[in-house]
Amino acid sequence: MVPLPKEGIISWMILLGRLPTGDRLLRWGMQINAFPPCQTCGSPNESPPAPKPGASLPEPGAPEASPPELAPIPPPELSPEPSEAPRDDKVFDVTEYDAVADGWTESRLAFLAAWKAACDHPGNSTFYIPEGIFMVAPITFHGPCYNDLSPNVKIKGTLLAPIRLTAFKSHHWIAFKNLKGFAVTGGTETGKVDGQGEAEAWQQSSCLKAARCKKLITSMFFINVSHASISNITLLNGKGFHLGLHKSNDINIYNVNIIAPEDSPNTDGIHVSHSSNISIFSSTIGVGDDCISIGSGSNNISISDVRCGPGHGISVGSLGKYKTETDVVGISVRNCTINGTENGIRMKSWPGGRAINAYNMTFEDILMINVSNPIVIDQEYCPSHKCKTTKPSLVKVKDILIRNISGTYNTKSAVTLLCSSDAPCEDIRLVNISLNYLVPHTPRQGRFNIKGFLNGLQVINSKF
Ligand SMILES: *[C@@H]1O[C@H](CO)[C@@H](O)[C@H](O)[C@H]1NC(C)=O
Ligand SMILES: *[C@@H]1O[C@H](CO)[C@@H](O)[C@H](O)[C@H]1NC(C)=O
Ligand SMILES: *[C@@H]1O[C@H](CO)[C@@H](O)[C@H](O)[C@H]1NC(C)=O
Ligand SMILES: *[C@@H]1O[C@H](CO)[C@@H](O)[C@H](O)[C@H]1NC(C)=O
Ligand SMILES: *[C@@H]1O[C@H](CO)[C@@H](O)[C@H](O)[C@H]1NC(C)=O
Ligand SMILES: *[C@@H]1O[C@H](CO)[C@@H](O)[C@H](O)[C@H]1NC(C)=O
Ligand SMILES: *[C@@H]1O[C@H](CO)[C@@H](O)[C@H](O)[C@H]1NC(C)=O
Ligand SMILES: *[C@@H]1O[C@H](CO)[C@@H](O)[C@H](O)[C@H]1NC(C)=O
Ligand SMILES: *[C@@H]1O[C@H](CO)[C@@H](O)[C@H](O)[C@H]1NC(C)=O
Ligand SMILES: *[C@@H]1O[C@H](CO)[C@@H](O)[C@H](O)[C@H]1NC(C)=O
Ligand SMILES: *[C@@H]1O[C@H](CO)[C@@H](O)[C@H](O)[C@H]1NC(C)=O
Repeated sequence: MVPLPKEGIISWMILLGRLPTGDRLLRWGMQINAFPPCQTCGSPNESPPAPKPGASLPEPGAPEASPPELAPIPPPELSPEPSEAPRDDKVFDVTEYDAVADGWTESRLAFLAAWKAACDHPGNSTFYIPEGIFMVAPITFHGPCYNDLSPNVKIKGTLLAPIRLTAFKSHHWIAFKNLKGFAVTGGTETGKVDGQGEAEAWQQSSCLKAARCKKLITSMFFINVSHASISNITLLNGKGFHLGLHKSNDINIYNVNIIAPEDSPNTDGIHVSHSSNISIFSSTIGVGDDCISIGSGSNNISISDVRCGPGHGISVGSLGKYKTETDVVGISVRNCTINGTENGIRMKSWPGGRAINAYNMTFEDILMINVSNPIVIDQEYCPSHKCKTTKPSLVKVKDILIRNISGTYNTKSAVTLLCSSDAPCEDIRLVNISLNYLVPHTPRQGRFNIKGFLNGLQVINSKF
């Protein structure tokens, strides 16, 4: 642990030196300045903020179609957002295929029959779940469908997962597979997807013993899906992750609400892996694990206007554990509020493991409220504490910009950089960080916890 050389505003960085830290060497460079406000970093021109995701994808004015509750569904391909009610949109209502909205009668086969009809329909179609509570066993909505496009999915009612884990043969409850060009939405009222994790899934003994429950079920899983949007739905009490994207591209997720108790195990809000061009915005996520986690193979993922908390914050990783992993590139997290979480923004990789790269990431304009560890790079991630921590992580973390982060925190470390000695972190920039320690009258040290090798650390105009 290396305390900050001095309290206060740190600006510029030029020096390159070496500091022994136990058995490791820390390479770092930092120069303390009084205040010349940063000339090179703060200018909005340096890296213009991404356009607001919503901007190029206008929400439609609440369109009056007939019947009104069957809201207009999007023209696929060009934009997954609804724009104009397609005239030939045929609606396939699950209750017309004998689904029963009593919260009890299991309706999987009825859902599949309605799906097949919608999927095969030679024209635009909507798979429609009306008001009411539907109990549905694990189900996969397969494509490809007619014209290689998908029906839109409108969830007005509530979907309930079976309580018993024995009902699940795979790791998903509701899966969408091999589909293109569609919207999954609750419409103007928000549909609900209730994983019912509390009764059995969270009680598994493995959840208590290890950091990972043995049987983790993702509530809504999208695999090989493209040009889609997921909006206006509430996911709650997932048995495991709430929303999962895998091998999927060009997806917008917005106006989504994800809720699970702070102490529910492994209930990540959204997990992304091996996917590209994903935008997650205008959403609220409070869960028992990461609000959003960006896993291996993710490319061009943008997160903005997300309110996160409780939970473990917004994470990249964990990385480096599995053979199939590939690089994580082009992640941006902007304009978010992170409130009452264990971590704020975090990158995590396992000791040992795969040599992949994680680079070109920006975290900016983030407000932290009473967060335990606001900024973390942890290359010794091992939640089960059963790793060979002597082996350094081989994940190369580089080109990370962390800018305009403000707010409060409640542990000794505002910034934790535990980098690998085999694959040193490279080009980490902390700019305009202003974080206040919530606990008064305690020694102001250890706020900057650095370990391992680090090439090119810049701390500019920051205090914490
Ligand atoms: C960084 O701080 C400087 C001075 O405090 C300010 O002028 C600049 O706008 C800030 N930049 C960002 C991106 O917050
Ligand atoms: C489906 O809807 C889109 C947009 O609303 C429209 O352009 C297209 O012609 C419709 N498809 C068919 C087969 O009618
Ligand atoms: C992905 O889905 C498309 C349909 O959208 C299908 O044609 C393709 O075969 C699927 N790919 C795989 C690997 O299954
Ligand atoms: C989502 O809900 C908002 C109101 O909460 C509404 O304005 C918007 O049209 C809805 N979006 C869709 C796709 O139905
Ligand atoms: C990243 O994804 C967004 C959609 O989320 C897309 O508009 C943009 O063009 C993509 N950028 C790159 C470099 O692929
Ligand atoms: C991501 O978006 C860019 C820009 O629109 C596009 O060129 C690229 O093919 C997309 N990537 C994938 C995997 O769809
Ligand atoms: C930032 O997020 C807030 C709500 O969290 C939203 O009202 C505002 O429009 C967003 N600003 C930008 C520039 O995206
Ligand atoms: C970094 O990632 C962003 C997406 O977050 C992308 O727009 C940009 O082109 C990437 N820059 C480089 C140098 O790869
Ligand atoms: C942060 O969370 C606390 C506890 O849930 C809540 O009382 C407070 O209003 C939140 N603050 C903000 C700014 O959202
Ligand atoms: C810094 O981030 C806050 C959100 O925490 C935002 O309100 C403010 O506009 C940002 N400042 C600049 C200069 O972008
Ligand atoms: C901050 O969070 C801690 C738990 O992490 C909690 O005990 C404390 O009451 C919170 N403080 C405030 C001011 O919300």
